Amino acid sequence: MQIVVHASATAAAEFLADSIAGAIAKQPALVLGLPAGRTPIGLYRALVERHRAKRVDFRQVTVFNVDELMGLPLGHTATYGAFMTRHLFQHVNLVKERTHLPDGSRNDPDAEARRYESAIVAAGGLDVVVLGIGANGHVGFNEPAASLTAETHVARLHPGTRRANAEPFRGDWRRVPRHGLTMGMGTLLRARQVVLLAAGTGKARIVRRAIEGPITTRVPASLLQLHPNAIAVLDRAAAGKLRK
Ligand code: GLP
Repeated sequence: MQIVVHASATAAAEFLADSIAGAIAKQPALVLGLPAGRTPIGLYRALVERHRAKRVDFRQVTVFNVDELMGLPLGHTATYGAFMTRHLFQHVNLVKERTHLPDGSRNDPDAEARRYESAIVAAGGLDVVVLGIGANGHVGFNEPAASLTAETHVARLHPGTRRANAEPFRGDWRRVPRHGLTMGMGTLLRARQVVLLAAGTGKARIVRRAIEGPITTRVPASLLQLHPNAIAVLDRAAAGKLRK
């Protein structure tokens, strides 16, 4: 895995925004996988700035979000869909028909997972997928386990993951849904490029395990080491425990 370390989280976000803007300039119909979470907020801010400065045009771009919480009504403020609208979609010229999230409000979530996976395949697969990392090594909602799932699927969230997602639920983790829909490890590993974005000392330990530790389903992000075109974009704090 290629590792790029920046002095600050802002510098890391701007580097990645420039790299995504460059990829879109080269390939205007780029298919982009994007995460929710605190980590990518700076990236989305930097992309919006570049869009306003006419340095990036999203008109032909397709977005597939990596994951979504289940059981909330569509458009609920705590959904990842609402998060993406607030931080990115409403500020740039992405076309609505080409912005996709798994629909966590469906009665048949397994069918929704299959539909989502097929939609990614029909779009030609992901060109670039940007991922955050959970403190336990999860990517999307692929939680540490004895085995992982390849395709988009229903995932049961670990209690720690529900705690990490509690903010939009007035800080009460018991209100956080128990399940999410997420791209699977195969969906992610089939992307032509994978970017792992992490910032802050709180991620340093898991970043080291993901990048330098053994490849194991107990640290789902460690599977990204298998990808031929994976890059970790880190700030100095998140890179603080790397040996190399
Ligand atoms: C969440 C999400 C992931 C996200 C990760 C890290 O639970 N399911 O998509 O990348 O955890 O979140 P954060 O960036 O807020 O640390």
